[in-house]
Amino acid sequence: MKPIEIKPNIYWVGAIDWAIRDFHGYQTPRGTTYNNYLILDAEPVLVDAVKNNFSEITLKNIKQLINPSEIKHIVINHIENDHATALDKVMELCPKAKIYLTQKGKEGLERFFDLSKWEVVVVKTGHTLISGKKTIMFIETPMMHWPDSMFTYVKEDRLLISQDAFGQHLASTQRFDDEFIDNNNEWLLEDAVWDYYANILMPFGFIIKSKIEELIKMGIEIDMIAPDHGVIWRKYPDKVIKLYLDMANGKAEEKVTIIYDTMWNSTEHMTYSIAQGVRSEGLNCKVLKLRATPLSIVITEFWKSRGTLVGAPTLNNLAFPPVMQFLDYLRGLRPKNRIMGAFGSYGWGGGAVKEINEVIRKMGIELFEPGVEVKYRPSIEDEERCYQFGKEFARRVREYHKNFTSD
Ligand code: FEO
Repeated sequence: MKPIEIKPNIYWVGAIDWAIRDFHGYQTPRGTTYNNYLILDAEPVLVDAVKNNFSEITLKNIKQLINPSEIKHIVINHIENDHATALDKVMELCPKAKIYLTQKGKEGLERFFDLSKWEVVVVKTGHTLISGKKTIMFIETPMMHWPDSMFTYVKEDRLLISQDAFGQHLASTQRFDDEFIDNNNEWLLEDAVWDYYANILMPFGFIIKSKIEELIKMGIEIDMIAPDHGVIWRKYPDKVIKLYLDMANGKAEEKVTIIYDTMWNSTEHMTYSIAQGVRSEGLNCKVLKLRATPLSIVITEFWKSRGTLVGAPTLNNLAFPPVMQFLDYLRGLRPKNRIMGAFGSYGWGGGAVKEINEVIRKMGIELFEPGVEVKYRPSIEDEERCYQFGKEFARRVREYHKNFTSD
């Protein structure tokens, strides 16, 4: 592989992981990349360090530009394993390089490496490093994605190196946004941004919003955003910033997703009529069976939809476990600005709809009560109830959606 110049004397020296399909439980059908960047100046600076099993790749990229022993400074924007675990391999070649990171970054990295052998510099927002002709500023971004996270901003190039933020799990031969967007692949790139935000950054929407506002107040001008995953925003940095702000403000499509699982197909049969009811109101409706769909895809579809209906049969007076597993994961992502409802089948005592409604209530999500239940098998009359339920839910979704003017 070859390094790629992204700005004068600033190179992408990262690695492409074409094969990864399970990123700590997050399904990545399109693979990912571990981006890092080499700033060539009087004192060369490496920003981020990739995942440990890709150290050979990044070191080969660096060696095509300089002898790694010449690296004087290494910035660790984020200590999560995919961006920092190759650090010891890099440091073997430039043991005198100074390492720049936040206090939380230092505390975390100490759990991975013996830092006493290296020179570590703790930085805060506004601290700068002059590498020669370039002024490199640090901006703390706690919880985007971990407490240690920060951005690195190269002033002369108006380049924001943003670690996880604005990234996408997308392995590709293209390194820049316009290589997708200008070739009518915009949907793929935007879809990847939605997917990444939904599964990684959904809990931190309010932090993202305030951090972007802080950048604006600081007068940070951005010409390019270089994240640590996926493509670099060369032509459309404003577009991805706006998309992030919109998502933080509650952007979703005026549509419904039905997420369900089933034991003997009764709950599944309910989805047919409910989906038809939703559609009769003119809203798009997607139906996803949990055990047939990767969880991260389910989460993305949930996040894109203003309304979601969750369906489960009752098992031992509770909701069918795969559905509760999904709701547990969703609860951790702390969703907002969505409306949800429940439906399901039962044999005798029931309990699934009640349990799902309780979880939705606890999440603080708008709840469409009371839901609809069917005993044993949906009759023709039950199917009509399900149809009407879908129809009424669609109307509520349309009303609720009016609260979000940015859509
Ligand atoms: Fe790509 Fe939070 O690590």
